[in-house]
Amino acid sequence: MPRDAVQRRAFSVYSRIVGTGSYLPEQIVTNFDLERRMDTSDAWIRERTGIERRHIAPLGQSNVDMAEQAARAAIAAAGLQPTDIDLISFGTTTPDLVFPNAGVLLQARLGCRGGPAFSLEAACSGFIYALAVADKFVRAGDAKHALVVGSEILSRITDHSDRSTAILFGDGAGAVVLAASAEPGILSTHLHADGSYQHLLYCTGGPARGPAPGNMPPGDVVRMAGSEVFKIAVTLLGRIVDETLAANHLEKSDIDWLVPHQANIRIIQAVARKLGLPIEQVIVTVQEHGNTSTASVPLALDVGVRDGRIKRGDLLLLEALGGGVTWGSALLRY
Ligand code: UT7
Repeated sequence: MPRDAVQRRAFSVYSRIVGTGSYLPEQIVTNFDLERRMDTSDAWIRERTGIERRHIAPLGQSNVDMAEQAARAAIAAAGLQPTDIDLISFGTTTPDLVFPNAGVLLQARLGCRGGPAFSLEAACSGFIYALAVADKFVRAGDAKHALVVGSEILSRITDHSDRSTAILFGDGAGAVVLAASAEPGILSTHLHADGSYQHLLYCTGGPARGPAPGNMPPGDVVRMAGSEVFKIAVTLLGRIVDETLAANHLEKSDIDWLVPHQANIRIIQAVARKLGLPIEQVIVTVQEHGNTSTASVPLALDVGVRDGRIKRGDLLLLEALGGGVTWGSALLRY
C-alpha cells in the first residue's frame, strides 16, 4: 500500500458530522386543506399520525433542486466550499431521472467534479443507509469530506385519491457533511432488510417492469398496508435500539437525543418508551413535515441542531424503517 494511503488510514479513524442543512418547499398543505379534498378529518389525522401539515413541491421543482439547497446549507454550516466535497451518497426513492443518478446530478449543481457520486434506494431508511456507506468510505480513508443527502418528492408517487396514504406524505430534503476525524464521530451503524415484507409497502411500478396493463393516471403510486407496517416498525425499531446499545456497551440512559424517522407520532413514542426517554429528548417534526421518507431523519437532525437543542458532544441515536422492509440505526457523538 502506498505510504500516503497508510497515513490516510491511520488518521481517518472516525467520520464526524461537521455540518447539517435542510430545505422544505414553500407550499404548505394542512389537514384542513385535505378535509376539503377527501373523506378525512384533522382530528383523525392528528390522533392517528400526529401530522398537522406537510410541505409539497410545486410541479417544476425537482428532487435535485431541493437537495441542492439542503446540501449548500450543510456545506456552509461546515465552513467548507462545495469543491471540498469528495464523495456524495444520496438516498432517495424519487430521483429526477433513472440515470444519471441523483448524486451525479447534485455533484454537477455543486460543481465538485471527480469524486464518486451515487444514489441508493432504501425507501424511508435511505438516509441511514447512505450515511452508513459514506461513513465506511471516510473511515477507510477513501473520502475526506462526504456529503450525505436524503431528499424526496413523495407527492409525485402518492395516490392523492387514497386517504390511507395521501394524508401521510410530504416533500423535503436534508443533508449532512461528514469529515474524517480523530474524534468520534459516528460510533456504529446497523442496517437490515427483510424482503419478505415487500408486499406491505411498495411503489406499484418502475422502469424495468413498465406500467401495469391498463394503468391510468396517477401512474405508479405508493401502496401500504398501514397497520401491518406499524406493528413491524414498532417491533423492529425496538429491536435495533437494543442492538445498537449492546454493540456500543451503552445503557439507554446514555442517549441524549433520539432522532427518529417521522412516520407516525405513535411509532416515535413507542421507540422513546423503549429507550426510557421523555418526549422532550426526542426531535419530533412529524407535525410540521409529515412523512418525508428519506429526508425525514436529516430534516429532524437539522431542526434540532439549528434550534440549539442538539449540542456538540451529545450522544444521538438515529433510526428509520421503510418499504422493503429496510431498517437501520446510527449512533453518533455530535
Ligand atoms: O415511513 C415508512 C413506514 N411507514 C409507517 O411506519 C407507517 C405505519 N402505519 C401507520 O402509521 C398507520 O397504520 C396509519 C397512520 C397509516 C393508519 O393508522 P391506523 O390506526 O393503523 O388505521 P387503519 O389503517 O387501521 O384504519 C383505521 C380506520 C379504518 O376504518 P374502519 O375500517 O375501522 O372503519 C380506515 O378506513 O381508519 C380509516 N381511515 C381513515 N379515516 C379518516 C384510514 N385512513 C383514514 C383517513 N381519515 N385519512
